[in-house]
Amino acid sequence: MKFNDYKEYLSPALAKATDLIIEKGQGVYVTDVNGEEYLDFVQGIAVNAFGHNHPRITEAAKAQVDKLITASFNLVNYPATLELAKRLAEKTPGELNSIFFSNGGSEANDGAIKLARNYTKRPGIIAMRGSFHGRSLGATSITGSNSKYRKNQEPLVPSVYFTPYPNCFRCPYNTTCENCQLECLRELQWTFDYLIAPENVAAVIMEPVMGEGGYVVPPQKYMEGLSELLNKHGILLIFDEIQSGYGRTGKMFASEHFGIVPDIMTMGKAIAGGFPMSAIASTKEIMDSWLPGMHGTTFGGHPVCAAAGLAVLDLFEEEHTLDNVKEQGDYLKSRLLKLQKQYPIIGDVRGLGLMVAAEFVDPRDNAPSAEMLNAVKDYCLNEHMLTLSCGVYGNGFRFATPLNITREELDKGLEIFERALAAAMQKSR
Ligand SMILES: Cc1ncc(COP(=O)(O)O)c(C=O)c1O
Repeated sequence: MKFNDYKEYLSPALAKATDLIIEKGQGVYVTDVNGEEYLDFVQGIAVNAFGHNHPRITEAAKAQVDKLITASFNLVNYPATLELAKRLAEKTPGELNSIFFSNGGSEANDGAIKLARNYTKRPGIIAMRGSFHGRSLGATSITGSNSKYRKNQEPLVPSVYFTPYPNCFRCPYNTTCENCQLECLRELQWTFDYLIAPENVAAVIMEPVMGEGGYVVPPQKYMEGLSELLNKHGILLIFDEIQSGYGRTGKMFASEHFGIVPDIMTMGKAIAGGFPMSAIASTKEIMDSWLPGMHGTTFGGHPVCAAAGLAVLDLFEEEHTLDNVKEQGDYLKSRLLKLQKQYPIIGDVRGLGLMVAAEFVDPRDNAPSAEMLNAVKDYCLNEHMLTLSCGVYGNGFRFATPLNITREELDKGLEIFERALAAAMQKSR
């Protein structure tokens, strides 16, 4: 079976990083139709927190399929979905105890914007340049990680404004961490002064650790300043934790690193062990502003996804997954920092927990180098390792391993990565 024989039947809109046809997966490995095994450091784009086909997750889903596939959560309730809402509410920070289930990240973000507008009765949404929130029309409107996502789509949802994401490695103000005067935050204040009065702004939406845009961790003082500024104006803070949530950064939600509780939080990706599910969490007061029928979904809260989601939460507790993320994440970062010293094509190593990236540069001037990254990525693929890039210039190498990865599996990937670095350096000489 060859992908090329089927390609003509698929829209080219879905960018394909490889031509592989994958038949099965187990843990950190996938196997293609020819029986070739690949080390998967992408995991469905940071979806499979417990690797491929964890038996606890597959058994839970199978058991639910045998009982009931769907009757629509609009119409009836299911034990698994009710239980998941309760257990999720116990995990979410602060008072974010009211849950709305949907099917994917974009849909959850669309819902979050609708909820913020409905609660505040204000139109404005401020998003961050560099952030990715999805591809539905609403999510595209608040996505600023690459103009290709927005190309030929204007006009998008109105009253959306962008402010810079605090990216210290590529500071738009050319300042250093030591001299930082939080110029990014001043920019937001200018948006209020020049463009949209704060009392017309419903919410600011941000990824507390940026995903697709480059695995960027914002500085603590920015997060505190942002929260203070928004509180002053009664503007809601929406955290998109679709990629950064569910243990990826070493805490259940990335917001916990900053000690800041948003008003609305969206989750997706890892939530149902690989099944499509997402959720919006908010306070009861905010959620109750939605009257029945103001938002809805046919498949959201699907019992098979919910059953898998319960198994995911059990595994987090039983396997002490957050401890593993911290331990393996620290190890991964320290190994990458050592490689950075050896290989000047790595300009920056950053991230939290197992949400870590290496940014590739031209060592002569630190300019982003997708060329170097692609050389490394291609080498890895040749060596049967799946990897994924990030960042507007496609020069970020993201590590999105399962959260239960072992030291041996991590080492195996790092060895391939190091050989790829050496080969890329050699080629560039
Ligand atoms: C932070 C973030 N938000 C939203 C999305 C969109 O999710 P989906 O592709 O499930 O619509 C993604 C997907 O990569 C994401 O990383």
